Amino acid sequence: MIQGRVEPGVSPILPANGAPRPERPGDPCLLVVFGATGDLTKRKLLPALFNLRSMGLLPAESAVVAVVRKPLDDEAFRVEATEAIGRFATGPVDPAAWADFRARLHAVSGDLGLAATYRELADRLAILDSQLGTRGNVLFYLATPPEVFAPIVARLGEAGLTRAGEDRWRRVVVEKPFGRDLESAVALNRDLRATLREDQIFRIDHYLGKETVQNLLVFRFANGIFEPIWNRRYIDHVQITVAEELGVEGRGGYYDRAGVVRDMIQNHIFQLLALVAMEPPSTLAGEAVRDEKVKVLHAIRPSPPERLLATAVRGQYGAGFAGDHALPAYQAEPNVAPGSRTETFAALRVDVENWRWAGVPFYVRSGKRLRRRDTRIVIQFRRPPLLLFRDAGLADVEPNRLEILVQPEEAFAVTMKAKIPGPAIRLQEVTMSFSYRDFGPIAQATGYERLLYDCTVGDPTLFHRADMVEAAWRVVAPVLDLWGSLPPRDFPNYAAGTAGPAAADELVARDGRRWIDP
Ligand code: BG6
Repeated sequence: MIQGRVEPGVSPILPANGAPRPERPGDPCLLVVFGATGDLTKRKLLPALFNLRSMGLLPAESAVVAVVRKPLDDEAFRVEATEAIGRFATGPVDPAAWADFRARLHAVSGDLGLAATYRELADRLAILDSQLGTRGNVLFYLATPPEVFAPIVARLGEAGLTRAGEDRWRRVVVEKPFGRDLESAVALNRDLRATLREDQIFRIDHYLGKETVQNLLVFRFANGIFEPIWNRRYIDHVQITVAEELGVEGRGGYYDRAGVVRDMIQNHIFQLLALVAMEPPSTLAGEAVRDEKVKVLHAIRPSPPERLLATAVRGQYGAGFAGDHALPAYQAEPNVAPGSRTETFAALRVDVENWRWAGVPFYVRSGKRLRRRDTRIVIQFRRPPLLLFRDAGLADVEPNRLEILVQPEEAFAVTMKAKIPGPAIRLQEVTMSFSYRDFGPIAQATGYERLLYDCTVGDPTLFHRADMVEAAWRVVAPVLDLWGSLPPRDFPNYAAGTAGPAAADELVARDGRRWIDP
């Protein structure tokens, strides 16, 4: 085991991307949350903002303004928020810290379709700005259904609220889904940019807030030993798995229109893939990193339908078990259409056709109601050129691999061969690993802290850019088109609580490979 050592004074959420960054608080600002009575705000945003404030990264010159449809005054919102923090805080809540944060919560209620609501919001923002000295900076967070992203932004623009100035910024955060196909994504980008500049739009992806994901850049570019072998000469293939134990958790209505390709692969998984496959950026500035990531997505050639029949697998779960506990079939979940053809599992072979990766398949898979929660990236290296140790059993042993465990465990592990002590030459697979646990106790976080902080300092590195969103849709469009035109014949084809459909194993077995599972 290699032990990690944390430099004294290094905050766990800041040293990402390898960029030494002064630990300064974010800019003074007002955070305006649309959809503030929803799940996301309660579970993630309020706890994350509270954590940031407790860490001193959200300055005293700041406040949160909830914009909600239902009648709600400041006090009522504070009561709701106190209840939410009681349930979803990531650690013990210090009463004085909460009192400080609670007093920063405000609410404006009104119909989001009416100009009057935005006028009232503008008045409230002006008052809070003069009381708190937030320097005119405002972050608008759209924690709303995607249908209202564009109308809200248009109304904000009409009310003059998105106008940035020389010394004040205005930024808008949008949550996925960024469209449901290429056309709607292009339309959404166009609508947002009718009011906003691209550098004002922060398309958030909570996977990029995960520690191990942020560490990928550090791992690749702050260490000299991996980059020289990070290419088709040494790497056989790459696997990216995002397996969930959970089902659709009361989101059947949304999920049944989405499916796993739209929900996970087009966004989270392609972001992981881009981080693994990108060229070293010239700097760690946001645009340089994003330029390299989008090149990867452009290098994935969309496959013709006849090829997809062999390289794309879909599945849907039927009833099953987690231990003794019976699990319902997907089609029995609330708000899922009977006879639904929505895929809850997908596995794809993706080919990145550039100089570095030609001939190296990237196998990606994700699904709900699988045996265990496990997000991991596997870099499988090639076999050594000569099997000198065949008699010692090497021919049967897997070649080296690097596993990047994202969750629930957070670790890096290299699997190698070692000689078993003794007079005969006998080999065994051993692992050299580093686990985040080796850093010692790290403050629990929601995963949104880093991303929200980056919004308040204007760092777009960990956010999707319009061209990335569109490039990713271009890759999955043929898959969605094919599946849309060819109804699945075997759904449900895996039982809840299992490893997914057998066809996913066949997908890699056809290429002489197998999935690496915990
Ligand atoms: C969300 C998806 O983006 O990510 C959910 O909409 C999914 O369906 C979730 O469950 C998974 O996130 P995490 O952080 O729990 O892996």
